[in-house]
Amino acid sequence: MQAQAIESDVTKIQADCLIVPYLQGEVLGERANLIDRAMGGVWAGMVETGEVTRNFPERKLVATLGRLASPRVLFLSLGKADQLDGYRLRNALQFAARDLRRFCSRVAVVVDASVRDALAAPVTGQASQSPARAIAEGVGLGNYHLGEFKKSESTAQIAELLVVGLGSGSDLAGALAAGARLADATNATRVLQWRPSNHLNPADFVQEAERVAKAGGLSLKVIERPEMEKLGMGALLAVARGSHQPPKLIMLRYKPRSSDRSGRVLALVGKGITFDTGGISLKPNPGMVTMKSDMSGAAAVLQAIGVMAKTEPHIEVMAVAPLTENMPGGGATKPGDVVTAMNGKTIEINNTDAEGRLVLADALCYAVSQGATHLVDVATLTGAVSIALGHPVTAAMGNSPELVAAVRAAAVEAGERVWELPLLPEHDVALTCDIADVRNTAGIPAAGTINGAVFIREFVSDHPWVHLDIAASSYHAEPLLVGVVPKGPTGVMTRTLAHLPFHLG
Ligand code: BES
Ligand code: MN
Ligand code: ZN
Repeated sequence: MQAQAIESDVTKIQADCLIVPYLQGEVLGERANLIDRAMGGVWAGMVETGEVTRNFPERKLVATLGRLASPRVLFLSLGKADQLDGYRLRNALQFAARDLRRFCSRVAVVVDASVRDALAAPVTGQASQSPARAIAEGVGLGNYHLGEFKKSESTAQIAELLVVGLGSGSDLAGALAAGARLADATNATRVLQWRPSNHLNPADFVQEAERVAKAGGLSLKVIERPEMEKLGMGALLAVARGSHQPPKLIMLRYKPRSSDRSGRVLALVGKGITFDTGGISLKPNPGMVTMKSDMSGAAAVLQAIGVMAKTEPHIEVMAVAPLTENMPGGGATKPGDVVTAMNGKTIEINNTDAEGRLVLADALCYAVSQGATHLVDVATLTGAVSIALGHPVTAAMGNSPELVAAVRAAAVEAGERVWELPLLPEHDVALTCDIADVRNTAGIPAAGTINGAVFIREFVSDHPWVHLDIAASSYHAEPLLVGVVPKGPTGVMTRTLAHLPFHLG
């Protein structure tokens, strides 16, 4: 998608649709009002009859019948002014664009001063997002659809975005271009998340990584089973044992043009389970279909480093993803088996469904062996995170307040919700094990999300590290979030991770 700022008489803009965001409970802003007057007060009339409620994210599409240069106007409610932030603006536009992409290739967003002012007032600490970038991201995100395998689904896209009312200039053009790029990357993550496991196994994922590496001029290393065995990746291999698909571990590297003297190397490590049956600790039937997206972390780190090839951060970054299925085949790991991870720690696998932490253990050890100094892992790790924080929120846990702060700042910039959970000394009991150094689950229904992090921390060699649990935030099922976020995969953390190197100081 191309995005461009223009200053123009709104009645003369030629687009397939004008999107007019407005605030609930306030009179229309100057530009919106001009549009409504040109159309004989159609919107004001609908407010009077109660036909529009003006609740977020209500959308009303009207034909302009020649009264404006554009054939349609979409009135889009952003809800109340004091609840408006970039997160909500982006989602409102995403809803709108999802409706429009089938029949509009060129849209214009008309921004009034009232909307700009409301965005400038801080809500939940999210005020620092650029409105221009949020608008381009929102419209770009609307281009995503769920129907990759559906003949009846239109592949039409919004190809061109005009933004009116934010001024012009090169800063603005840069923010719009960045937003469009970040939306494209997020959508690429979503496509991989939603792709069924028979179309996206570890080998297929490697092909996707090859594409990203080639497009960005990034190096790509693929580790196959024999090398995993040589490296001692007993935890990753234990998960792969029940599947016919060979496991892969990939590492993409971004190196800055001018050498960085700080010596920092940021590793982004994403869980890449292309399907999670639970293994011998088999999952129950309901909901298992969503386990095709258990590689959402791997997809996010892949697309984030792809963005960095263009934004060129000043430090070195690697994206690492352990890729395998978790299947209950005849050779599968059984509950009670003991394996040895790459750093020599022994693990009792008391639950084969806690496989994410096992593959991450070896991937983190590998990242450290390859020179990583700062580690961030992203994983659909625990169902418990939706109980703790609800669906739109990613949980963060770590051993370094500085790195947690950097991740949170990057998330604010990206417009993604991240909230920290504690790792207290008392939580270490989760690891207590009679037969090995640690066990992979605590076996008690308490602090499940934290226990996952406590386990993973055993494999980061005291480097600054943050664990992001996206099991809830990576996918939105109806009816949990009707009207908050459009349903389906979210591509969460793609943008946060893309911003992260710029927040490491
Ligand atoms: N992939 C799942 C977590 C998950 C659950 C992701 C729901 C998305 C939606 C993970 O591998 C898993 O099975 N976790 C277990 C951990 C437990 C055995 C300690 C869980 O959450 O039940
Ligand atoms: Mn599992
Ligand atoms: Zn899993």
